[in-house]
Amino acid sequence: MAAPWSPQSWRDKPAQQLPAYQDEAALKEVEAQLGNFPPLVFAGEARELMDKLADVAHGRAFLLQGGDCAESFAEHGPNTTRDFFRVFLQMAVVLTFAGRCPVVKVGRIAGQFAKPRSSPVERQGEAELPSYRGDIINDINFAETSREPDPRRMIEAYRQAAATLNLLRALSQGGYADLERVHQWTLDFVKESPAKERYRELADRISESLDFMRACGITPESQPQLHRTSFYTSHEALLLGYEEAFTRVDSLTGDWYATSGHFLWVGDRTRQPDHAHIEYVRGIKNPIGLKCGPSMSPDELLRLIDVLNPDNIPGRLTLITRFGADVVDDHLPELIRAVKREGRNVIWSCDPMHGNTIKAASGYKTRPFGAIMREVEHFFDIHAAEGTHAGGVHVEMTGNNVTECTGGAMSISETDLSDRYHTHCDPRLNADQALELAFLIAERLRREHIEDLPRVASAG
Ligand code: TRP
Ligand code: MN
Repeated sequence: MAAPWSPQSWRDKPAQQLPAYQDEAALKEVEAQLGNFPPLVFAGEARELMDKLADVAHGRAFLLQGGDCAESFAEHGPNTTRDFFRVFLQMAVVLTFAGRCPVVKVGRIAGQFAKPRSSPVERQGEAELPSYRGDIINDINFAETSREPDPRRMIEAYRQAAATLNLLRALSQGGYADLERVHQWTLDFVKESPAKERYRELADRISESLDFMRACGITPESQPQLHRTSFYTSHEALLLGYEEAFTRVDSLTGDWYATSGHFLWVGDRTRQPDHAHIEYVRGIKNPIGLKCGPSMSPDELLRLIDVLNPDNIPGRLTLITRFGADVVDDHLPELIRAVKREGRNVIWSCDPMHGNTIKAASGYKTRPFGAIMREVEHFFDIHAAEGTHAGGVHVEMTGNNVTECTGGAMSISETDLSDRYHTHCDPRLNADQALELAFLIAERLRREHIEDLPRVASAG
C-alpha cells in the first residue's frame, strides 16, 4: 500500500531546487492568497487530455508539446502568445497530415516560469550571486536585490498565466485556428523558405486535400471542428508551494487535480523517487510527464513508473527522453526494453533540445539544428527497431524571429547569435526552425507511414 498523500505531503520529503525565501511570513501570506484564487484549468479538461494521450500511448495519435524554455514577464504580450500559437498550429497541421493521425497539442505555456539550475550560484568576474531561477522566483538582472527570491512574484506569474490562457482559449476556439487559414500561413512560409523545394510537395498535397474537402462541402464554415482546435497547457512542476496552492478537489470525482495547468512534468534534476517532487505529482490525477536523461537507469525508471502510474493507466505518464544526439543510442533502447518487458503503458516523447546544448565560442549557449534533428531521427529509428510507437516531440520554441539555435534553412551561424538572443534560459527554435522541424518529422512519419493505422476519432 502506498503511503497516504495530501497536497502538502511533499513538505516532509527532501527537496531539490526549491528557493529559500527569507521572509517566511510573506511567503505564507502569498500561498494562502493563491489558495483562494480561481483555478486556471478544470479537472474535466485534464481528463479529456488524458483520454487523448491514451490514444498516443496506443499508437493512434501523436503528441506535440512545445513553447518557451522559461516564460518571462518582460516578453509577455499578446503578440508573443499569438505568434507562438500560430507556428505551433502550423506544425500541428503538417504533422496531422503526414502522420494521418490526430495531433494532441500541448503548449509549454501559461505557467512555465520556474527553472532548475545546475549551480545555485552564478559568477560574473569577481561577483557571485544566487542563480536566476525563473521569473516566478527572482529577477534575471545580475544584482543582489534582483536575485533575492520574492514570493510576490508568484502572484504576478499567476496573473500572466491567466491572461495568456485566456488569450489561448480565445484563439483556439474563436476562429484563429481555422484549418484553411493556418495552412495559408504555411504556404507563405514555404514560398519564402530557402528550402522551399523540399517542403512544397507536402504543402501542395495539403492544399489539394483542403480544396477537395471544400468541393465536397466540408469547410470550416460547415464543420466546427475545422474552425477550432483543442489546446492544452503544461509546465514543469518545480515550485511546489505554488502548485500546492492550486491543487484542488474535483467536485465531480472527489480526486485531487493540479489546476495550474493541464499537464505537469518532473525534471531530470528533481526526479528522485523518495523526494518531494515525485511525492507531489504522484497524488494528482492529471496526465504527467517525466524527463529521462542519461543518468536514468532501467531499474530506476521502473521504480518511478510504479510510483507514478501504479494502475498502469494509458495516457497518465509521458516519458520525455532527452539524451543528446550522440548518446541516445546508448540509453533509449534499454529503457524501452525494460518498459516493454514489464508491460507498462507509457508515451515515449523526444525532447531533442536539452541533450544538445553547447557553448559557442562567443559564450552564448546554443543548440545546433542538425543535432536536434539527428536526435529526432535516432528516436524514430530506435522505436522502429524496438517495435514501439515514437509518440511525440517536446521542443523549446518561440514564434519570434530570434537567433538562439544555430543552423536551419536560414543558416544561423555562431556569429549571428548576438543579433536577437532573447531567451531567459535555454536557446529556442525560432518560428522558421520550428516549422522546418515539423516538415522534417513529417517526412519521417510519412516514410514509415502506418498504412494499417486504425482510423480513430479526430483530435477536435
Ligand atoms: N480540430 C481539428 C484538430 O485539432 C482540425 C484542426 C482545426 C486543426 N484547426 C487546426 C489541426 C489547426 C491542427 C491545427 O485536429
Ligand atoms: Mn530548457
